[in-house]
Amino acid sequence: MKLQTFDEKTYHLDIMYHQGVYENSIHFIFDHESKTCAIVDPAWHGDLFIEYAQKKGYVITDIWLTHWHGDHTNAADEIAEKTGAKITVGINELPYLDIEHDLTTVNDGDTIALGATTATVINTPGHTAGGVCYLLDGHIIVGDTLFVYGAGHCSMPGGSVHEFYHSMQKLKTINDDVMLHCGHDYGCKINTTMGEQKSGNAYLLLDNERDFVRFVEGMSQGLVAYPTEALSLKEVQAML
Ligand SMILES: [Fe+2]
Repeated sequence: MKLQTFDEKTYHLDIMYHQGVYENSIHFIFDHESKTCAIVDPAWHGDLFIEYAQKKGYVITDIWLTHWHGDHTNAADEIAEKTGAKITVGINELPYLDIEHDLTTVNDGDTIALGATTATVINTPGHTAGGVCYLLDGHIIVGDTLFVYGAGHCSMPGGSVHEFYHSMQKLKTINDDVMLHCGHDYGCKINTTMGEQKSGNAYLLLDNERDFVRFVEGMSQGLVAYPTEALSLKEVQAML
């Protein structure tokens, strides 16, 4: 199992890669002061995640969801049941979620706290209707909104290519040095920054909605190859 840790002032972020049949990345935020943990998009191996936090001396008090898809949520009920953790999700995702426990909803610009650690919620609809990203000090956790040099599809209920374009414009305003963490390790490498993606990710490079829609729709029709490496805007435009 591949595991990485990133140390920050109030928290450390651990990431477990390649979990379950869709090889999801599971993100753990450990707040040093309160010894509490928020797990982002828990799926496939609830007991393993609970045990992992326990062994480190932390209690899982929060589950933060980026979107409703089962490969990001299928252990949320189990963990909430066993730990009493509170489940937080973007308000526009409510109609799509299949979760038994009570949900706390958040909206664009909200700040959520885990002990002394805070995260800003950014609504990024497109992959789903109510998808959100969590921006922490130095790191952003985006679910399937972006992958390394790629992004998620818009083909399931609630998806919208047009909304996805506007979410990409929003993500371009995130500072270049912020590390980007995705729901799946689908690119040519694991670690990247927003700056690196802004200069080589086709979804962020395309600067008008018409080309963006052509690009994404072309991919779903098999006319455009899914990108996994850095491209220039010229190279992306040549694919249209
Ligand atoms: Fe997804």
